[in-house]
Amino acid sequence: MRIPFVAGNWKMNTTLNEGIKLVAEMRPGIESTQNIEVALCPPFISLTVIHNLLSGSKIKLGAQNLFYEEKGAFTGEISPMMLAGLCEYVILGHSERRQYFGETSEIVSRKVNSAIKAGLKPILCIGENLTEFEAGKTEEIVTGQLLKSLAGVDPSPGLVIAYEPVWAIGTGKAATGERANEVISLIRQTITGLYDKNFAYGLRILYGGSVTGDNIAEFVGQAEIDGALVGGASLKTDQFISIVRKTAQLKNQ
Ligand code: PGA
Repeated sequence: MRIPFVAGNWKMNTTLNEGIKLVAEMRPGIESTQNIEVALCPPFISLTVIHNLLSGSKIKLGAQNLFYEEKGAFTGEISPMMLAGLCEYVILGHSERRQYFGETSEIVSRKVNSAIKAGLKPILCIGENLTEFEAGKTEEIVTGQLLKSLAGVDPSPGLVIAYEPVWAIGTGKAATGERANEVISLIRQTITGLYDKNFAYGLRILYGGSVTGDNIAEFVGQAEIDGALVGGASLKTDQFISIVRKTAQLKNQ
């Protein structure tokens, strides 16, 4: 049994005060939902305060990135060791990092490795862009990114994968549930080949890309999709709670 999982990626949104307010608004609705794991991923600057706010809560905290070195002269970067006491999860290889900050799958694999070594659970993001999608290369791109991003990575029970077609992120154009399920099924097969069947079966794989309270059922109603990585809708209390509730309901039937 895979425990359903919903993670909210706030991206570069919310000041500290806005983040505190958002957590206060969302907390009751999330905490009253059973049989689901929920993580909020605010900006680095808000992590300490939100970590303290959430002490004793079942809501988990995640970061949106890290640098793979433990410490040293890397101005502006945040290390896995700095996050280890604060967060349980860390989003890695998000398409915005790949697109705007030059992150290759090779860099991502170093980040995944050092996150795991520090005891963090990576939410590894992979997905094809619009040109690749239109050229029918989804399978090839997704498999390639997955294998390269996990190169040299030992199977770790905390690992989560998010399939996020780049053309669906922040565009309001989500993939169909059926199609996302097919790609996620391929990801699970690829993981079986890379590690083994048991690990692949237990691994949680999320869909991400324009998920809302209105379309979440289409995704989590699919057998292979274990939850969602939510961007825009994770900043809207009603939407996010609806996503969490519907996921818990559909996955625990
Ligand atoms: P979106 O973002 O829900 O705003 O499309 C998803 C993501 O980037 O993780």
